[in-house]
Amino acid sequence: MAFYGGQFSQTEEQMFKSFNDSLRFDYRLAEQDIIGSVAWSRALVTVGVLTKAEQQQIEKVLNVTLEEIRNTPEIILTSDAEDIHSWVEQQLINKVGDLGKKLHTGRSRNDQVATDLKLWCKTEVIELLRAVHHLQQALVTTADINQDVVMPGYTHLQPAQPVTFAHWCLAYNEMLARDGSRLQDTLKRLDISPLGAGALAGTAYAIDRDQLAQWLGFTAATRNSLDSVSDRDYVLELLSNAAIGMVHLSRFAEDLIFFNTSEAGFIELSYHVTSGSSLMPQKKNPDALELIRGKCGRVQGALTGMMMTLKGLPLAYNKDIQEDKEGLFDALDTWLDCLHMTTLVIDGIQLKCQRCREAAQQGYANATELADYLVARGIPFREAHHIVSEAVIEAIRQGSSLKDMSLTKLQTFSPLIEKDIYSVLTLESCLLQRKAKGGVAPEQISAAIAEAKQQLALLSR
Ligand code: ARG
Repeated sequence: MAFYGGQFSQTEEQMFKSFNDSLRFDYRLAEQDIIGSVAWSRALVTVGVLTKAEQQQIEKVLNVTLEEIRNTPEIILTSDAEDIHSWVEQQLINKVGDLGKKLHTGRSRNDQVATDLKLWCKTEVIELLRAVHHLQQALVTTADINQDVVMPGYTHLQPAQPVTFAHWCLAYNEMLARDGSRLQDTLKRLDISPLGAGALAGTAYAIDRDQLAQWLGFTAATRNSLDSVSDRDYVLELLSNAAIGMVHLSRFAEDLIFFNTSEAGFIELSYHVTSGSSLMPQKKNPDALELIRGKCGRVQGALTGMMMTLKGLPLAYNKDIQEDKEGLFDALDTWLDCLHMTTLVIDGIQLKCQRCREAAQQGYANATELADYLVARGIPFREAHHIVSEAVIEAIRQGSSLKDMSLTKLQTFSPLIEKDIYSVLTLESCLLQRKAKGGVAPEQISAAIAEAKQQLALLSR
C-alpha cells in the first residue's frame, strides 16, 4: 500500500497494484494451478484437514473452473486478482463459500508457483520436442529426395569443396537432434515436484510429498524446501535450450537467404513464406527466414535477462523471481513458432539443381582433389598444396577452370600430372573420395539418411 500525505492515495495504490500484479501474464498457468490445487486438496485429506466429502466438493468445483477456462483462458483477464493463484482460490471461494478458504492450509504461493511453472514447462517441452521432431522429419525427407544435387560447400563464404544438398540438410538434422536431446535432459531434471515446500521451510502438515509428486505426474519430490521455492534452474535451462535452438534456426535461415539470392540462385522459396515489395515488382523477399533470423535476438535476451535476475538473489523466494515468466513464455512461444515456420519453409523449397551444379563447378572447389592426386603420387601434402596454388593462380589468370586447362599446361606445374587427372577433377569424383564416416560420398549420405530415419522412427514411438 502506498502512503501519500499521511493517507492512502488511490492513484499510487493503483500504480503499485499494476506494477506488482502478475495476472496479466501468469493467467497462462491457470490449468496447472487448478491441477496442483486438486492434488493439494487430496493431500489435505491424508492429514485430516479436509474430509473426503469436502475434498470431493472442492475437486468438483475446481474442475468446473477448469472447464470454464480451458478454451478461453483470456476470460481470467477481466478479473483484478493479483495473480493466478489468488484468482483460482477466489473462484473456489465464490462457488463453495467458507470451505474454499481451507484449501490454502499448509501451502504457500511460493511452492505453488514453482509447481505450476514446472507443470507448464513439462507440457511445453513435449510440444517443443514434437516440433523439433517434425522439422527433423522434413529435413531428412528433403535430404532423401535430393541425394544427388551437388552444390558448393563454403568456408568463409568462399566456395570450398562440393557437397550435396542432402548433406547440407543432414547437418541441420544433427543440430536439431542435439536440441531434442538437450530438451530431454532438461525434462529429467525439471521433473521433480516442489509442492509441499511451503513458503520456504517446508509444510507443517505431515504430507507424503513423494506421493503428492506422483499424483501430479512428477517422478519425485524435491529434497530441500529453501531450494524448492527459489530454484529456477529449469527456467534457465529451457531458455538456454531455446537460445541454442534459435541460433541453429537463425543459421539455417541465413544459409537459405543466401541460397535464395539472385546471385546464388540455388533455391526457390514458396510464395507462402515470402512477400513482394510494395515498390519493386521483381522482388520476392524471404520474410519468414528473415524473421526467424531476427527473432533469435529476443530469445538470447530472455536468457541473459533471467541470468541477471537470479544473479545475487538471496535465499529463498524474492519477488524478483516473478520476472521468470514473461521472458520464458515469450522465448518458448518464439522458438515453437520458428520451428513450425522453418518446417513450412523446408517443405515448400524448390531446388534449382542445374544452377547448384554449375556453381559447384566454379570457384575451384576441386583444387583439393588435384593436391590429393599429387599426394597419391608421392608428393608431400604441403608441397602439393603449393603446386596447386600456382595452378589455380594461373587458371584464374586464364579465366578457366582447372579441368579446362590443357594437360601440357597442367604438367608445367608438376610432371607427375597425367591424363587421368581429368576424371579426378569431376564433381562426382570429388564426392566419391569422401567415403570416410560423415563424409559427402553418396554411400555415406544414403547410410546417414537411413540412420536418421531409424532414429526418428524410434523417437516417434
Ligand atoms: N506471482 C508470484 C510469482 O509469480 C507468486 C508468488 C508470490 N509469493 C509471494 N510471496 N508474494 O512469483
